[in-house]
Amino acid sequence: MSNFYEETVLSVHHWTDTLFSFTTTRDPTFRFKNGQFTMIGIKVNEKPLLRAYSVVSTNYDDNLEFFSIKVPDGPLTSKLQNLKVGDPLIVGKKATGTLVLDNLKDGKHLYLLGTGTGLAPFLSIIRDPETYERYEKVVLVHGCRQISELAYGEKITKDLPEDEFLGDMIREQLIYYPTVTREPFRNRGRITDLMTSGKLYEDVGLPPMNGADDRFMLCGSPQMLVDLKAIFLENNLVEGNHGEPGDFVIERAFVER
Ligand code: A2P
Repeated sequence: MSNFYEETVLSVHHWTDTLFSFTTTRDPTFRFKNGQFTMIGIKVNEKPLLRAYSVVSTNYDDNLEFFSIKVPDGPLTSKLQNLKVGDPLIVGKKATGTLVLDNLKDGKHLYLLGTGTGLAPFLSIIRDPETYERYEKVVLVHGCRQISELAYGEKITKDLPEDEFLGDMIREQLIYYPTVTREPFRNRGRITDLMTSGKLYEDVGLPPMNGADDRFMLCGSPQMLVDLKAIFLENNLVEGNHGEPGDFVIERAFVER
């Protein structure tokens, strides 16, 4: 039996010259937890060319969605960025990953901290009703260089609060905090700096970092993860993983593509 599904591209959206999203059909037998990733790709000369991608859509959606950078000479994304509606896409049957609610202890505040395409797994998590059952406030922080890279911002601020099933929870409990580092914007600076200065907590109206109440999921560049992890360890927070829930969990944003 094959380890892959053969899906079909349903839509493609280009955010910028370097960022795009696309949706595909979903085999009804494909199971995953919100926040997980799987291998996806295309066939090149009859051989599968695959990379890990977080699933943007939720486990209750009929279709699959992915968010990608375009690497100019990237073996996969140099081709993937030309995807058209109707094209085939290979999707691995086995989803995995640490950014799942099961790996975190209960608490009051869930912080989802992503840079660049590291936003992807959190788009699934903020549409999971369990997220709002387990945490009073959910703070989604998206750090980018430029305003144009703040993909999905409108969806989060305009569409989600109107969602038929999740709207009430989203309006009450979700706080979206986009921040930009290389041009003027209402929120500026790296996530790390916003946390150490306390500005993030002030701006979202929550108390400073507190190991009893705060839980964190991180997805971004390797150095961002190293720097944030150091901040958490200084504050005596414990990393969670499969089987042992903790105060924070980490996944590298997949950028070598
Ligand atoms: P900066 O512009 O100061 O480098 P990239 O596009 O390189 O993946 O970066 C995405 C965002 O992550 C940028 O806003 C970038 O800020 C920020 N960033 C890069 N490295 C770190 C780090 N070590 N800690 C926190 N944020 C970082």
